[in-house]
Amino acid sequence: MTANDFIPKPYSNQVANGKVTWESPSNIALVKYWGKKKDQIPENPSISFTLNNCKTITTLTYTTKDNHDDFEFEVFLDGKQKEDFKPKIAAFFQRIESYLPFLKHFQFKIETSNTFPHSSGIASSASGMSVLALCLMSIERELNSEISEVDFKAKASFLARLGSGSACRSIEGDLIVWGENDTVEGSTDLFGIKYPYTVHDNFKEYQDTILLVDRGEKQVSSTVGHNLMYGHPFAAQRFEQAHENLAKLKPILETGDLKQFIALIESEALTLHAMMMTSTPYFILMKPNTLEIIQKIWAFREKTGLHIGFTLDAGANVHVLYPKAEATQILEFIKDELVGYCQNEQYICDQIGFGAKLIDN
Ligand code: DP6
Repeated sequence: MTANDFIPKPYSNQVANGKVTWESPSNIALVKYWGKKKDQIPENPSISFTLNNCKTITTLTYTTKDNHDDFEFEVFLDGKQKEDFKPKIAAFFQRIESYLPFLKHFQFKIETSNTFPHSSGIASSASGMSVLALCLMSIERELNSEISEVDFKAKASFLARLGSGSACRSIEGDLIVWGENDTVEGSTDLFGIKYPYTVHDNFKEYQDTILLVDRGEKQVSSTVGHNLMYGHPFAAQRFEQAHENLAKLKPILETGDLKQFIALIESEALTLHAMMMTSTPYFILMKPNTLEIIQKIWAFREKTGLHIGFTLDAGANVHVLYPKAEATQILEFIKDELVGYCQNEQYICDQIGFGAKLIDN
């Protein structure tokens, strides 16, 4: 399959005006995407848990227009016009226009809101770009009602990827693989696929409590961050390691080996940060409280034998991951011992989810 397969045949139907609402979640990578080629083609495969509660809800209103010269759209976040969101969306439209040739034929109103606090340091690009891709795909479905559910989702993921790489892993759940890898059948750089192998019950309803250590603006944008992997002295080894870790995860997921699971995801998280510390220029995105939390998690795990682990994204926040069966004790520990390290004691309880939902059409 190539990107050209997503260029549609001439549409069979006509559409004048309409409105569609989707919600789409965020996701948290277990094996990290860090390093990309043009148009968010990843340098290595990644796998993520789709989240359930952290999501973006978007209503797209579309009206046909006479001139087809340019993109026309307005964006609102929580009812307020957001001029500063426009360049990113314009760049997204530009990138996907050949796959959705109707984009210049409509005037759009994009109304969006997030379930997680704004500027909480939680990436809204995964949920935000995937939800917009889905709304646009609903228009394409009006224009071509024959598109199958499978093709609809694959193309939504493909388009979301062009908005933000990790967004392609938010369309479905509960475990999504993106990026070609020999050990995962059907995996591709073009879009995310559902993890196709057996997953042990230990991972059902796996919990993710997100500790908001630093709600500040991102120190390094993800695009700048990915670019640090160009000419990085350890890039080739890192990309290879991601392939290996994905392969190693297969028996872990199958047998429900939580110890090995934790060892793998923590190593992935620290490797991601190690890549940033060893690039030119270099960055430290963890804060002192990130380290305090990690030390406390390790000590608690040692003491209790409970299966608590962590992962990090490209920032200071900590995702505490643990099985549902141990949730009572671990959540008590989080509240008693970890929440004090969060900014304004803020944290979000989430768990593994099953992907985007159509709310209204
Ligand atoms: C550290 O998907 O935000 O969260 O493709 O430039 O939009 P762009 O990057 P983005 O990168 C996410 C990086 C990460 C790891 C991951 O989610 O796999």
